[in-house]
Parts: sequence; structure tokens; C-alpha cells
Amino acid sequence: MELEFVPLPNGVGSEIRGLDPREIGGAEEAALQEAFLRNSVLLLRDLQLTPESHLALTHILGEPEIHPMAPARPGQPPEIIEPSYSAGGAHDPDEIVGHIPWHSDQTYTQRPCRGALLRAIEIPPEGGQTGFVDTAAVYQALSDDVKAAIEGLEAVHRLARSHRLLGLHQEEEKARELAARFPDMAHPLVRVDPSSGIRSLDISPMFADAVAGWPTDKSEALLARLRDFATQSRFVYWHEWKPDDLIIWNNYRVLHSAAGHKNRYVRTMNRTTLTGEIDGRRTT
Ligand code: SIN
Repeated sequence: MELEFVPLPNGVGSEIRGLDPREIGGAEEAALQEAFLRNSVLLLRDLQLTPESHLALTHILGEPEIHPMAPARPGQPPEIIEPSYSAGGAHDPDEIVGHIPWHSDQTYTQRPCRGALLRAIEIPPEGGQTGFVDTAAVYQALSDDVKAAIEGLEAVHRLARSHRLLGLHQEEEKARELAARFPDMAHPLVRVDPSSGIRSLDISPMFADAVAGWPTDKSEALLARLRDFATQSRFVYWHEWKPDDLIIWNNYRVLHSAAGHKNRYVRTMNRTTLTGEIDGRRTT
């Protein structure tokens, strides 16, 4: 099988053409593994996967994990979740649903995932894009002064921050239970990928709530400055989904965000998650 790699806009990874998931042998497995190491994002189109073949493809890149927060839907393998699912609501059909702010996955845990494979099943006729940023490219673009200023710093990631940003109200007891299950977790602001050694910026804006040991104002200013720098349009690729597209991202160097779509439309995605390395330090 001849695989072709075509760069995606704004330096965010590559589209792989020519892969037939029904005929993947050792050579294609090795090419996929190598591509996953080298690229922040991989796009494959027209794959026509089933939940089982989606899971089999995941196994080529690593160990699938069961997501710590998102439940699988009945009848699906437990490793497959449906993020930002919408059933198409009649109530206020113009309300925007499914928006997820910029983040890397699970940075509120000690073991953020290695990556994820997101597959489009049913796509709204407008909206519903997913944005991707390669934070290794962002890190490279930082001035030497900023690189020196952030070296050695850690950000404290909190699940509760995402609930605040998403406007999700948690009952007090539930909030206490989640805080006990997911204590404050510090990760270096500059991450070194354990597989490739590539340095990237780990700012996961939906979860990174503070710079460890810094006063609130100074800490918020730095995190907002890094977020605004990283999400400039020159670094972002917004993917316009078609059914049967699959995007694989390296969570150690990618921020992503779901744009959201009108409530009147159905949007169904399936996602698997790759188990990561332990690299967080609990602070509470
Ligand atoms: C995710 O954050 O994993 C979901 C992104 C999307 O549904 O576009």
C-alpha cells in the first residue's frame, strides 16, 4: 500500500492518503506509528470504520484506555466515547451546543492520555468544526526571553476550572467528590514528549488554573498571554468534518477545541483514547 502524506494548513500535521483499514499489514502499522511520532495531527478520510475496527486501529498506536469522565454509550465498547454528542434539540434550535474551549485532554489527572482518535459519524450541515494547534510549533515560535521565563515553571490543572468555563453547576457534594477524585495536579509548562523528546507548551487552557507558587493576578496574566499567543489564527487548523473522517492527535503537543453547532442539528463523533505516561504531581 502506497501512503501519501499531505501537510495540513498552518503546519498542523498531515493528511494520510491511501490507507485501506481492511488491509493493514506490518509495513502500514510501522508507517502509522512513525507518522504518529512525527506529526501533531493525522487526518484520514473515507475510512468507513466500525466501532471494532476503530478500536483495532487504536491498538496499533498504543493501549486504549477507558476515559476517566466520559461514559461509553450503551452497546459500544467501553473504550469508545461520544464527545460533544448532540441529539438535535427542538428547544431553542439556534442555541449553540457542543462548544468545548481549548484544552489538551485529561491534564487534570496524573496520567494525561498520549493521544486520541476522533471519528465523524453524523455531522451538522454548518458548524461543528474542531480546531487543532501544534504546541511544539508554538513553543518554537516563542521568543528566547519567554522560553527562559517559563522554563521550570509548573501549571496547576483543575477539573473544576472546566466546569466554571462551561457553566456547569455541580452540587456541593458532587464537587467535593470530584475534587477528592481529581486533586490539583501540577505539570511542567514546557513538556518533553517521552517518546520523541520534542518540547511543547502544556497550557491546556480549560484546565490550567494557576502557575504553581505564583500570586493569582500574575499567574492568570501569564496563562492568558500564552493561551492568546498559542491560539492565534496562524497556528490553528479548523477541521471541517465529513462523515468517515478520522483525526488522530498527539495529546502531548496538541490543543484542540470544538467550535459548537446549532442545537437543531445532530452531531455524532466516536473517540478512543490512548493511555499516557504518568507525569503529573498532585499538589493537594
Ligand atoms: C474532544 O474534545 O475530544 C471532542 C472534540 C469535538 O467533538 O470536536
